[in-house]
Amino acid sequence: MRERTKVGIVGAGPAGLLLSHLLHLDGIDSVVVEARSRAYVENRVRAGVLEQGSVDTLREAGLDERLRREGLVHEGIQIQVGEHRHRLDLKELTGGKVITVYGQQEVVKDLIAQRLADKGAIFFEAENAAICDFETERARITFTHATEQGEILCDFVAGCDGFHGICRPSIPQGAITIFDRVYPFAWLGILAKAEPASEEVIYVNHPRGFALSSMRSHEVARLYLQCRPDEDLALWPDGRIWEELHKRLRTSSGDTVHEGEVLEKGVTGMRSFVAEPMRHGRLFLAGDAAHIVPPTGAKGMNLAVADVRVLAQALSAFYHHNRTDLLEAYSATCLKRVWRAEHFSWFMTSMLHKFPDEDGFGQRLQRSQLDYIVSSRAAAQSLAENYVGMPYGR
Ligand code: FAD
Ligand code: DHB
Repeated sequence: MRERTKVGIVGAGPAGLLLSHLLHLDGIDSVVVEARSRAYVENRVRAGVLEQGSVDTLREAGLDERLRREGLVHEGIQIQVGEHRHRLDLKELTGGKVITVYGQQEVVKDLIAQRLADKGAIFFEAENAAICDFETERARITFTHATEQGEILCDFVAGCDGFHGICRPSIPQGAITIFDRVYPFAWLGILAKAEPASEEVIYVNHPRGFALSSMRSHEVARLYLQCRPDEDLALWPDGRIWEELHKRLRTSSGDTVHEGEVLEKGVTGMRSFVAEPMRHGRLFLAGDAAHIVPPTGAKGMNLAVADVRVLAQALSAFYHHNRTDLLEAYSATCLKRVWRAEHFSWFMTSMLHKFPDEDGFGQRLQRSQLDYIVSSRAAAQSLAENYVGMPYGR
């Protein structure tokens, strides 16, 4: 099987699928090559918070039919320090901006349904994908599909294959610079058939470690606990998880979590990572393939959306107006937002987690920062501005 397209896309996560859809809206054809099955990518439980800008992007792209119905609009978040919760009114602090809680796998389901309805080409379960000749005008993606050899000839390759994909490692050594930091903890996350602890997301700084209470609906809770980076899930039967969640989320007025059937369990590592530049020749990296943030700022999926929005505009200028300037500017344009999100995610992670080897000095700095956030409007406003997402076009 040999096909020709304008943009060959590796990866059917939020970045690859949204790029393919945005290009389609602009009359630019693409082919998506994905290692996993459709069912696998549609059921992978990951992020859940959409910034206003991401919701706007999905709405403008006609992808918000279910999001409008099922997405939960949140006007505030809560920061719990020990046993006391403090509310940050995002809407008031940002002049009207809000966030929407809607699972990443729901975004992915909506995107796949739309791509298939529009007769978009997605090769699921494509094995051994490789990219070649992307320093020339004859870029190619090769793969195996149902024992058949596949080849996509394309003008450009979009590397949307996540952190463990093959696109970034295909760039010659020395052509990109890596900046990274690994944190000495991870998150144990569960999805549970239970009423959420609160109507809003709660971030907890607790002497036993960080905890987070979020949701997917009024009946399904999404909860996380700080754990060891090499945590063995076998040591965490449901009873132990609930016991720990109660300890960390309980307030002085007796609020805590509601228990229910655990539907899913997993451990997510925490790292900050940026590859610069996000382009090499005719290969453009987008989303987790180019950068990773620790999840504490809820930025991962939003950055993926922002990258492909920039890339789709740049490709549109190239195909429709013969302009290369936006493609040239792609990496620098994206990296500005990426580094703001990297800083914010590092900041939230540092402020809210228990660091295993922290001395008294570090603990007091952390406490002072939390006091500042919950008592100063200027500090709360800065957090809120970053949390809802920096405006597009900056
Ligand atoms: P991905 O969603 O990773 O998509 C990449 C796609 O490429 C995948 O479908 C993958 O199967 C495919 N692929 C990989 N290799 C190949 C190959 N060789 N050939 C073909 N296809 C390939 N963010 C938060 O804000 N909060 C969270 O709680 C949170 N939890 C997370 C939990 C986990 C386990 C992970 C990995 C990430 C989490 N994130 C979270 C981050 C967020 O989900 C990502 O930032 C987001 O998925 C980025 O989208 P993407 O499209 O760039 O990459
Ligand atoms: C969720 C995930 C996050 O990383 C976060 O900061 C807030 C909420 C969630 O899965 O709902």
